[in-house]
Amino acid sequence: MDQNEAKRLAAKAALDYLPERGVIGLGTGSTARMFIEEVGALVKQGRGFLGVPTSTASRQQAEALGIPLASDDGPWSVDVCVDGADEVDEHLNLIKGGGGALTREKIVNQASKLKVIVVDSSKMSRRLGEKWAVPVEVLRFGHASTAAALRSLGEPRLRMQGKEPFVTDAGGYIYDLVCGVIENPAELERELDQIPGVVETGLFIGRTSVLLLADAGGITRLSRG
Ligand code: A5P
Repeated sequence: MDQNEAKRLAAKAALDYLPERGVIGLGTGSTARMFIEEVGALVKQGRGFLGVPTSTASRQQAEALGIPLASDDGPWSVDVCVDGADEVDEHLNLIKGGGGALTREKIVNQASKLKVIVVDSSKMSRRLGEKWAVPVEVLRFGHASTAAALRSLGEPRLRMQGKEPFVTDAGGYIYDLVCGVIENPAELERELDQIPGVVETGLFIGRTSVLLLADAGGITRLSRG
């Protein structure tokens, strides 16, 4: 099974967690994209879903598939949010934001009763930071000063798109903070949140209800606690 087949398997397994009708958080990234395709097929069959997209890309995809969508303003009462992740540890804590949508993803995750994360097995680590840097979205105003403050916690690398800094849907920049293996992700999140100019971090601590992990052996379903 290649990585795309595993992602598809995880995306399809998430359909088991959808209510008959209700409000669905639509994640961002290649695995979430496959999930949104499946939701589009269910809507065509008559299922009554209202989507809350976590990025402009997911909104555009869902619109094209005819999925009814809530406005970006909220407030939403999301029954189930389905999203991917870049790295997952054994406590189901996550690093997200490889696609740059971490802030919207965390807001929709927070508004969701059930938080379903869909990944292939390449995303698993014993401890966060083994594979990924931590994406940190910052205000553009004074971003170099914010980066100087980030330097006490790791090595911040401004994410680029060609020759220009990458700009998020929310208008911010992203610093990928290289910190190596993270001993205490919750503490790092707290420290990052205290730095003025930091909008949001890609650390998702205690924000996974169910992890759907796909590999050649099929789907493994893991729950917190
Ligand atoms: C988007 O900002 C990210 O948080 C994605 O959820 C994450 O990068 C996973 O993407 P893939 O499903 O493409 O691996």
